[in-house]
Amino acid sequence: KNIAIIMGGYSSEYQISLKSGEVVYQHLDKTKYIAYRIHIFKDKWCYVDDAGTEFPIDRNDFSVTINGQTHNFDCVFNAIHGSPGEDGLMQAYFELLGIPQTSCDFYQSALTFNKRDLLSTLKPYGIKTAQSYFLNEGDSIDTKGIVDAVGLPCFVKANKAGSSFGISKVYKEEELPAAIENSFKEDNEIIIEEFLDGTEVSVGVITYQGKTKVLGITEIISENDFFDYEAKYEGKSQEITPARISNKMAEKVSTVASKIYDILKMKGYSRSEFIFKNNEPYLLEMNTVPGLTEASILPMQAKFSGLSLTELFDSAIEEALT
Ligand code: DAL
Ligand code: MG
Repeated sequence: KNIAIIMGGYSSEYQISLKSGEVVYQHLDKTKYIAYRIHIFKDKWCYVDDAGTEFPIDRNDFSVTINGQTHNFDCVFNAIHGSPGEDGLMQAYFELLGIPQTSCDFYQSALTFNKRDLLSTLKPYGIKTAQSYFLNEGDSIDTKGIVDAVGLPCFVKANKAGSSFGISKVYKEEELPAAIENSFKEDNEIIIEEFLDGTEVSVGVITYQGKTKVLGITEIISENDFFDYEAKYEGKSQEITPARISNKMAEKVSTVASKIYDILKMKGYSRSEFIFKNNEPYLLEMNTVPGLTEASILPMQAKFSGLSLTELFDSAIEEALT
């Protein structure tokens, strides 16, 4: 089968995505699949061969012509973090073309990538979330109103972004305007949240052999003030799987994470972030194209579950094709 591994993307996360895509390429079972690296950038979509030669993708049918021969793909392995791979755009395109792909459907992608809409959708189901405040670009900024709503310290976040781009922790009301301006560089919407002071965990949930499966619970300990970009990718953090939390807390967060997966009718990978407050898990966000680099959390959780990366990726393709 021909598998297109899509990587790159239009967001600040493109470099992480190229790493994730390369890990998928390296570990895909080559006896079963023919894997193609496909770069998706704003100015070009192309297949890149081992020598680095680029062949343009025909966007009418997502085929590629190499030395006069046209190749079509049986499945797309999505390794694009952020837009257009994690916000529903590529999903909708592949659905229209009838090409199976490994991540969730376009609606689930769009919904989960939007922190505000994800959290507001899940609240009526009893999922706990932090106190929050939303801003659109151009709204007048009432710093006192923000502090009254979420307290201090608080987190100012781009509403639709990943890898902690556009996130700041704010201690004083006077710091809010600069933090807000910084977040607006990543997105035209902002979510400002109450600081939850507790253990942070990341829970991987996937569909495995047709069933919702919790892969593992990872505890996140950042050397920096929070789990920012440097902590995530430059070794300034420890990620411990399984998290050192009580069995009761582990059971609670597993139940909540799989409940969310089922409520939203998810498919493919997901990794949800929670912080415990008074022993209850509060949902921060969800990633539906979680990092797949050697330093990323989901591959660690797969190993913890007894799955090699080859098995993990194989199962994603099998699920996509059923
Ligand atoms: N957004 C990054 C890639 C992650 O969630 O792992
Ligand atoms: Mg994220």
